Amino acid sequence: MKRIGILTAGGDTPALNATIYGAVERANALKVEIVGLQRGYAGLLDSRGPHVHLNPLFTAIPELDPCKGGTLLGSSRTYLDETHKDRIELVATHVKKLQLDGLICIGGDGTINGMQPIADILPCVLAPKTIDNDLGLNYIDEANEWIRRPTDTNPGYCEELRRSRDEMELEDIINYATPGYATAVYAVAQSLERLRTTAESHRRVAIVEVMGRQSGYIALGAAYAQPDIILIPESPLNLEQLTARIVQLYELQQHVVIVVGEGVRDANGMELGATMPTFDPAGNVRYSGAADAIGQMLTKSLGEHIFSEMRAFEPASSPMFIRKIGHTQRGGRPILFDRFYASQLGGKAVDLLLSDESNEVAILQYERASGFRVSSISANKLRDQWGEIHPRSVHPSFYDARRMQLSATGIDYLHPIFTNAIGADDVECIRTQMFSAGSVRNRYQSVNTDIRKRIRYL
Ligand code: F6P
Repeated sequence: MKRIGILTAGGDTPALNATIYGAVERANALKVEIVGLQRGYAGLLDSRGPHVHLNPLFTAIPELDPCKGGTLLGSSRTYLDETHKDRIELVATHVKKLQLDGLICIGGDGTINGMQPIADILPCVLAPKTIDNDLGLNYIDEANEWIRRPTDTNPGYCEELRRSRDEMELEDIINYATPGYATAVYAVAQSLERLRTTAESHRRVAIVEVMGRQSGYIALGAAYAQPDIILIPESPLNLEQLTARIVQLYELQQHVVIVVGEGVRDANGMELGATMPTFDPAGNVRYSGAADAIGQMLTKSLGEHIFSEMRAFEPASSPMFIRKIGHTQRGGRPILFDRFYASQLGGKAVDLLLSDESNEVAILQYERASGFRVSSISANKLRDQWGEIHPRSVHPSFYDARRMQLSATGIDYLHPIFTNAIGADDVECIRTQMFSAGSVRNRYQSVNTDIRKRIRYL
């Protein structure tokens, strides 16, 4: 294998450049050429085949900075599946013209699905990324525990996970954490810390929505900022219990901080942030406001009296303070944990291709005695019996639904990721870069401008 393609697909994360960097460094050591394909699978479909040689003379190009968030290759939510025969033929033609011997796709579940038909054309492997931390399994058989129950509504069935295990070992987790997750949690924890003091000063109930789609890992990680209540999509909302807890906390401390995972559901399983769903190009639901929905429910359930007694004559809606942390969770400099393991996983992806693997996923495994190590798993192990890859959900043992907080096992899960996740250089970078004199003198220099000069076409 002499020439490998690499692409980044799906939503960006802060650790993508670090993964690309790890792959390029490994390829340099093995004297393999790496070609960066532009904008994910969209680039492979483009008849001009825009590409960048990432390691001329087996040295990484200077624009590839593992400390910078986003991706110098660009990304898109354009995916392929086996029904797209004409598109697959197009990809085959471009792969041939680009003279690629293998392909590394950096992405999440949608990216593996997109990789599947391409794996029939050339060897493909996946290096994982997603801030949602939902690519993987809680234990090896989990994907086989999905069932389909017939329904009268489209598509004629509903899916349900019949979990065989109430408890689990951390060592059993397949792909313990995905690059991007730790930095997203860091951004969330920082924002919460800031929102806390304003909620405290102004006697507010702060409802803060975080990303993660159907998985509550980001909300769970927010526990480091000590929110009073954490609501995750995996545990249906109990409005009565939530209201009672808010009243109790408000009486005690005159403010409450609640973290809401954007995919949170009501008791009937309805996603509160997707009552009128819109979809992204990959068909994923775009969540539009779980925190808003909860705010409205609480305005009714809490009533005026609790606030009017505590606050000087203001209506119940006014102490409610609803914020989405939004895309700041996905951007910026990756913290040490993400940088380090993202680049290891990128390197592992190169090794997999060079050992003639295909349809394989580089993963991060954890052992109590020795810590983290990179490994790999066949993409098929992540699929259910109908071939579908489901987002990994937070295991029930990680969450205490009665307290609406992290459980002891959940704390155990987070520690290996976040203890020492921030490097001394991350802190030093804030000190020296944040208010650098050069920043106010010069315009922002986009990597897109520099990379464009290196793009070659077929
Ligand atoms: O999957 C990553 C993610 O950031 C989700 O947490 C979020 O729901 C979604 O992407 C947002 O996507 P977009 O940037 O397309 O709105």
